[in-house]
Amino acid sequence: MEDADRPILVVDFGAQYAQLIARRVREAHVYSEIVPRDTPVADLVARRPAGIIFSGGPKSVHVEGAPSLDPIIYDAGVPILGICYGAQLVARQLGGRVARTGQGEYGRTDLRVTAASPLFGELPAEQVVWMSHGDSITEAPPGFRVTAKTAAVPVAALEHAERRIYGVQFHPEVAHTARGQEILKRFLYDVCACPPTWTRVSIIEHAVEMVRRQVGDRRALCGLSGGVDSSVAAALVHKAIGDQLTCVYVDTGLMRAGESEQVEDTFRRQFGVDLVHVKAADRFLETLAGIDDPERKRKAIGETFIRVFEEVARDLHVSPGAAQAREDAAFLVQGTLYPDVIESGTRDAAKIKSHHNVGGLPEDMQFELVEPLRNLFKDEVRAVGEELGLPEDIVWRQPFPGPGLGVRIVGTITPERLEILRAADAIVVEEVKKAGLHRQLWQAFAVLIAVRTVGVMGDERTYAYPIVIRAVTSDDAMTADWARLPHELLDRLSSRIINEVPGVNRVAFDITAKPPGTIEWE
Ligand code: XMP
Repeated sequence: MEDADRPILVVDFGAQYAQLIARRVREAHVYSEIVPRDTPVADLVARRPAGIIFSGGPKSVHVEGAPSLDPIIYDAGVPILGICYGAQLVARQLGGRVARTGQGEYGRTDLRVTAASPLFGELPAEQVVWMSHGDSITEAPPGFRVTAKTAAVPVAALEHAERRIYGVQFHPEVAHTARGQEILKRFLYDVCACPPTWTRVSIIEHAVEMVRRQVGDRRALCGLSGGVDSSVAAALVHKAIGDQLTCVYVDTGLMRAGESEQVEDTFRRQFGVDLVHVKAADRFLETLAGIDDPERKRKAIGETFIRVFEEVARDLHVSPGAAQAREDAAFLVQGTLYPDVIESGTRDAAKIKSHHNVGGLPEDMQFELVEPLRNLFKDEVRAVGEELGLPEDIVWRQPFPGPGLGVRIVGTITPERLEILRAADAIVVEEVKKAGLHRQLWQAFAVLIAVRTVGVMGDERTYAYPIVIRAVTSDDAMTADWARLPHELLDRLSSRIINEVPGVNRVAFDITAKPPGTIEWE
C-alpha cells in the first residue's frame, strides 16, 4: 500500500456521528472508512491507518456497557482524535477524569482556545462550536495539555502532541461548528500527514482498476434502472471493461415520462454501451390486472422483474450469433453504496414494505457481484457520475422505487390510470425543477388514488380522480418531513394538472411526515 492510500479509520461509537465524520474526512480528500467498535486493535493497526478518529456516541462513559476499545491502541504510534464521547474515552482510559458535573452543554457554545495547538493553528481564539454532552472532562490525563475551554467546561480540547493523541469535546464534523472542517483538516494534513489525494478522479481510477482486476476478460451484466446508483455503476464498469459489459434495462411500463428514452439516449447513444432494452410493459400490466393490494402488487412486480431478467440473462448466455460474444456473463453489477454496507445487519428487521430493487435477484442465479460504489457515499457517487459525463438529469435524479409508478397508483393499475399519473407526475417534476427546489427535496411526485370526486369545469359537472402531490425532505428516507412548498408553486401545480391532464379534477397536497406516514403511498 502506498502511503497516499493509507486510510483514516473512524471507530463507530454511534452510527450517525461516525458516518458524518467519515464523509467530512472524504470531503477533505482523504479516504476514510468506518470500523465497528469491537474491531480488535491488532486488526485496526494491520490496516496501517494514517490516523484513527473515535466518533461521538452514547451519553456517558460511565454507564454499564459503555463502548470502549483496548487501550493498547494508544501505544500503536497512530495519531488519534477523539470527538465528544471519543474524547471522554481517551481522557478516561489514559488517567484523566470524566465527571457527571451536571454541567452539560447542548447546541452552539463559545469556545476559547487557551494554548497553541496543531488543531487550532491560526484559527481565532474565540469560536463557536456545537456541543452535545452531559458528562464533562474535568481533568486531563497526565502528560496532556488542555488547549481549549468553555464557560461551562474546563477541558474542551486536550492533546498529547508527542504521542499525537488529541481530543475535542465539541463536534467538528457538524456544520454548526463554524471552523470544524478546518480543525479536521489540520488533524488530517498536519498531524496525520495525509495527502489530499482522494478526489473524484482518483476514485474513478481506483474503481476502474478494481473492476478490471475482478472481472478480467470475462463478462458482466448490469441491471440498469435509470436511477443514480445503477447508472453510475454501469458507467464506471463500462469505463473499466467496455464491451465486456452488457446492460439490461427492463421497461416495466411503470416508469416515469421520458425515462426509457433517456436511458437509451445516454447509455446506447452517448456511451456506446451494449444495452438490451426489454419492453415488458404488457407483461407487467397483464400480471397486475385486477390486483389492488399493495403487498401483492409489490410481489407481482418483483417476481415478474426477476423472471424477465432471468430470461434475458439466459438468452445472452446461450443464444448463438451476435450474442456469442456475450457468453459467460459471470458477473452482476450492483450499485450498492457505502451506507448500505455499514448499515446492513444493524437495520431494523421489522418489515414495513417488501422492497424491490433492480438488484433483488434470486440466489440461484450464479453471479458474482461487482459493486464499484461499495465504498462511496451518495455525494461521491454523484460527483463520480458528473465526472464520467452522465447527464445532470440522471446524476441528480431523486430516488425512485423499484416497483415504479405501480406503488403510486392506489388501487388497480390500468393503462389509462398509468397515463394519468405519468402526465401529472411529469408536471410535478418539471415545476419543482423550475422553482429550483429539485435538489433540496428528497422526493417530489404525484400519487393517483382510487376514488373519484365531483367537480365543475366550464358549466359541466365532472366526476374524476384527484391527484395527490407528495413532496418530502429527508436525509436517509428513514424519517421524512413534508416539504413546505411555496403556495405559488402549489397553485401552479394544481392549475396545470387539472388543465392539462384529462381525467383529473382535483389536486391535494399530502402533509404527513414519516413516521407516521411512509413516503410512498403503498
Ligand atoms: P417508504 O415509502 O418506505 O420509502 O417511506 C422510503 C424510500 O424508499 C423508496 N422505496 C423503494 N425503493 N424499492 C426501492 O428501490 C422499493 O420497493 C421501494 N419502496 C420504497 C421510496 O421511494 C423512498 O425514497
